[in-house]
Parts: sequence; structure tokens; C-alpha cells
Amino acid sequence: MKIGVYPGSFDPFTVGHLDVLKSAAKLFDVVYVAVLNNSAKSPIFTVEDRVSMIDRVIESEGLSNARSGSFSGLLVTYAEQVGAQYIIRGLRAITDFEYEFQIDAVNRHLEPEIRTVYFMANPAHSFLSSSNVREIGELGGSIEGLVPSCNYQYLRERLARQE
Ligand code: PNS
Repeated sequence: MKIGVYPGSFDPFTVGHLDVLKSAAKLFDVVYVAVLNNSAKSPIFTVEDRVSMIDRVIESEGLSNARSGSFSGLLVTYAEQVGAQYIIRGLRAITDFEYEFQIDAVNRHLEPEIRTVYFMANPAHSFLSSSNVREIGELGGSIEGLVPSCNYQYLRERLARQE
């Protein structure tokens, strides 16, 4: 069985993340969407909030082979725990490539058997990031179409209260 882990901060999960998840769900038997639990990154949404938003996406998109989860140690340790042979990441631009290149080198040093596969972002989402969504929402702009519709109302209200 081909199992993949799609890790990230997902603060919050965007339509760009959804695009990668949908592609991965077609390729893998099971995909774990794994939220990084790391307070050093100062996320604005709690791990529980982020996992709940991902659960709503999985359900409303009917992604029956996707599961949500969270992890706080090394990614490769979490991947081993869930039996994953692959890590899944999205790439938007050349700047992502440099960052991903480093993460891959570290992960391969730690666990050479676990390989990372990359999905190129839909060009329509090449500008999109969780931090853009947070900023737009906090400053009163519309985040419609930038986050999965099942989470739109919740995020709109939460981000508006953030400022
Ligand atoms: O969405 P992000 O913040 O770009 O995701 C980064 C993530 C979660 C993939 C990375 O920070 C990570 O894997 N952290 C866990 C700690 C770890 O395994 N570090 C070694 C690889 S850098």
C-alpha cells in the first residue's frame, strides 16, 4: 500500500493546499495531512483548530483516503509511525525550491528510505500562501476563493477579529 504524508503548518489550509491534497489522493492509497505542532512558528490557529478545518475539507471534498493528524517531533518519525514511504510537498516558485531542497536533504540524511514527491502548484495559486490569507483577512480584504469554501465563513470571522 502506498502511503504519503502531506505535512505543513497549514495556518490556515488554503485552496493551494487543497489542490496538492487532491492530486496526492489520486496517486496514493492513503494520505495523512499532518499539521506541525510547533509553537516556535507562532501560529495564529491552534493545532486543534487547524486539524478541524482539515477534517471539514476532507469530508466536504469526499476525500475518503485522506486522514488528518498532527505531529511535534521529526517529520520522518511521524512518517514511520503511520507507515508512510513518501512525503508530499507543493512547489509554487523557485524560492520554494531552495527551501524544499534543504528540507529534503535533512530528511534524506535522517531517513533515506522515505522519499519526497512534489506537486507543482496550479499557476492560479502561485501567489497564494497561508500568510497572505491571514494578512488579507486581518486587513478586511476578501479571502473568498483563497480558502476551501467549507472554512470560508469561519476563517472570515476569525481573521476579522484578529486585528
Ligand atoms: O508549511 P511549512 O511550514 O512550510 O512546513 C514545514 C514542515 C512542517 C514540512 C517542516 O518544518 C518540518 O518537517 N518540521 C518538522 C521538524 C523536522 O522534521 N525537521 C527536519 C526537516 S527540516
